[in-house]
Amino acid sequence: MARLAVNVDHVATVRQARLAKEPDPVIAAALAEFGGAHGIVVHLREDRRHIQDRDVAVLRETVKTKLNLEMAATKEMVEIARKIKPDVVTLVPEKRQELTTEGGLDVVHFEQSLVEVVGTLHGAGIAVSLFIDPDPKHIKSAHRLESDYIEIHTGTFAEARSFSRRQEEYERIVTAARLAQKLGIGVHAGHGVDYQNVHWLRGIKEIEEFSIGHSIMARAILVGMERAVREMVQLVS
Ligand code: PXP
Repeated sequence: MARLAVNVDHVATVRQARLAKEPDPVIAAALAEFGGAHGIVVHLREDRRHIQDRDVAVLRETVKTKLNLEMAATKEMVEIARKIKPDVVTLVPEKRQELTTEGGLDVVHFEQSLVEVVGTLHGAGIAVSLFIDPDPKHIKSAHRLESDYIEIHTGTFAEARSFSRRQEEYERIVTAARLAQKLGIGVHAGHGVDYQNVHWLRGIKEIEEFSIGHSIMARAILVGMERAVREMVQLVS
């Protein structure tokens, strides 16, 4: 049975839209755990557009399952991770202009510099995951880097418009997951996984954990709407 790690970045996005105190991703994370989440994920971006340093520090104190910190492989972020000590760090590529993470980390290209980053995180007792495209060359590179996990980027699969393209991407994910497991690397998967396409992916037995944010947050806003409005109607009337 695969685990579910819930990404609560969007809660912080709403809070930052008003530079307010609510909604608090820390409370969202606690509720996600009440709902059965096996882990909490946050992405501390260089530009701090949603999650703030305070959020990561408080989540380290409050998360009772596992805290997975997504971050770029920069000096600043490695220092923060060393201090906070999340259970897992997922290294992701990061561009300032992007709306969300676009594609996996090119671990083959950056292998030399990643050796030190992975070594430093391991030295601090932090497990490492690499967010990569389902490509055998990246899996082999992750193996050479002694990464504990890979997170297979499922965005291309999720965005496929035709059945045949989706099938093609699905096959790539299956092949990548099998190779990673054969090499002894734990397999996570995420990006664009939603209530419809998860049916495809949940059958891949090598995937130990799904990292899902947008679709869960989108649904949470809508299923919570009726109650939130009813409570305010009562207060104003
Ligand atoms: N995994 C990684 C590495 C991500 O960057 C994201 C997006 O923050 C996710 C998973 C979750 O993707 P989504 O929000 O589309 O579920």
